[in-house]
Amino acid sequence: MREWDESTVTEEVVRRFEAAPPRLRQVMTALTRHLHAFAREVTLTEAEWMAAIEFLTRTGQACSDTRQEFILLSDTLGLSTLVDALNHRAAPGATRSTVLGPFFVQAAPAAENGARIDAGRDAQPLLVEAAIQDTAGRPIAGATVDVWHADSEGFYDVQRDGGGLSHRARFTSDAEGRIRFWTDMPVSYPVPDDGPVGDMLKATARHPWRPAHVHFMIAAPGHERLVTHIFVAGDPYLDSDVVFAVKDALIGDFAAMPAGVARDGRAMDRPYRLLDYTFGLQPAAR
Ligand code: BEZ
Ligand code: FE
Repeated sequence: MREWDESTVTEEVVRRFEAAPPRLRQVMTALTRHLHAFAREVTLTEAEWMAAIEFLTRTGQACSDTRQEFILLSDTLGLSTLVDALNHRAAPGATRSTVLGPFFVQAAPAAENGARIDAGRDAQPLLVEAAIQDTAGRPIAGATVDVWHADSEGFYDVQRDGGGLSHRARFTSDAEGRIRFWTDMPVSYPVPDDGPVGDMLKATARHPWRPAHVHFMIAAPGHERLVTHIFVAGDPYLDSDVVFAVKDALIGDFAAMPAGVARDGRAMDRPYRLLDYTFGLQPAAR
């Protein structure tokens, strides 16, 4: 047979993948079937097919060393959250993971416990105290804890010209499995929406906002690496995060504290916020 039509083309494409290595064959077969089923379900027009090709072309063209528009597309379609959920099923006592996002920096500056990582702007101070434990509640000493977050104006350091790194650092948990640092309160912020993903959000009447959060990446020998955020309770975007990353257990109480001597002995002449959160790491898969 040399003629492929609406009812036969799908099976013929699937047949052409028969000689592929098993996993690739499985993925390409399912991709073909779902892609064709999608086109059938919406009776895709030629104009829509062309618009999709142009959209994906612009998405690729928007990518650079500092911008990954395809990951942003995956994030805003919920695919990143789905892939994270499929690959990280938290055991009892383990903290839930969520998306990495584009603002992680591999070479974040190492900092001592108790350090200030804000940029010295006038913003509400935040003391973060975190305990790192295994799923049985035993402290994990020597864990590497990367933290990063948007500043009080909703920008990451890497989005500001020439300002250097701030609101990020790499800590090591102490003998009690704890880290502590001072920063300033993050606020909610829009994901970069001046490219094709932003056009998609606007065309579909979606907003680009993420609820305020602090990112954590925690690694310790013998444990699965944890990539997660802690969200600020009460944020107006918790129920509509544009990248679907919120989980109830990841909402933290950033408690309002009065001026006075803080837990770590720092004399505060104005009110500040305190986040005290316990992270559980599950054993590494063997
Ligand atoms: C972030 O939280 O940094 C982020 C995550 C996904 C897309 C854009 C930003
Ligand atoms: Fe973020």
